[in-house]
Amino acid sequence: MQTNYDIVVVGSINMDLFFEINKMPALGETIEGQAFHFLQGGKGANQAIAAAKLGNKVAMIGCVGQAAFGVLAVKNFEKYGVNHTHVYRVPDYTGVACVTIQQSKKRDNSIISVPGANKRITKDMIDQAKPIIKKAKIVLLQLEIPLEIVEYVIEYCYDNKVPVILNPSPYQTMKQEIIQKLTFIIPNEIEVHQMFSNHSIELSCAQYPNKLIVTRGSMGAVFHDRMEFKIIDGIKVPLIDTTGAGDVFLAAFASEYIKSKQIEESITFANICAGMSVMKIGAQESSPTIEEVLYYIKHNQ
Ligand code: RIB
Repeated sequence: MQTNYDIVVVGSINMDLFFEINKMPALGETIEGQAFHFLQGGKGANQAIAAAKLGNKVAMIGCVGQAAFGVLAVKNFEKYGVNHTHVYRVPDYTGVACVTIQQSKKRDNSIISVPGANKRITKDMIDQAKPIIKKAKIVLLQLEIPLEIVEYVIEYCYDNKVPVILNPSPYQTMKQEIIQKLTFIIPNEIEVHQMFSNHSIELSCAQYPNKLIVTRGSMGAVFHDRMEFKIIDGIKVPLIDTTGAGDVFLAAFASEYIKSKQIEESITFANICAGMSVMKIGAQESSPTIEEVLYYIKHNQ
């Protein structure tokens, strides 16, 4: 069995139900939506697919249910060449997310996700996947699976010198000693405020130089390099749907970092990929292929 992967993702797998609406209904109100889409999602799966589309060898570790959504999720990994040996079918429903895109809010989204099978991942499943985790060039994690499993993977990666990135979304309080063991932690602006309550983004980044990278949507991303606070601008594109843009950023950052080991270059690449992904609806179909990214770079520099 092949055990060498560029990127190993441990995390969530969802089916996303998209509702395009003019405005959110009030309590007790029924409204008519404008469009509906039924698309693959889940932060973990989104990151795995985005990394594969950028030309990496990727393996996914996670859980899906027994019914149709689980079957579709596995077929989707096959479609994009993501190894799913450690995607387990468990007696629960596959995670689902309700994504609303509001016209009145400049097409911004709100997401309610219900974890289902994502909560069924166990330490035993991680133990079975250790041969591929140990040889990964980098491991990606988010917080849509139990925190104790996330911590277990971080400890294992740290002990085995495997670089690991955490996307702390949806945010949960993390122990200091766990954060210390991460190579990078990449929250968005809302999550970084949840992490550091009243600190400014600049002060927060200064606490974790070269480790904490904050994504800021169309404004790109920021970090502190021990000398100064750095702002790396995003690209300007027509906005259709931001769902999964943070996942594309994470995958693209990892993809570039394992090659260049340069944080700033990796953020620039990730900004381009995440920016390109907001021009289409959905979290996975919208993420760019490496050919599309290279074409964009060639024609926009
Ligand atoms: O980051 C976007 C993802 O968050 C969606 O695909 C949805 O499934 C939720 O998990």
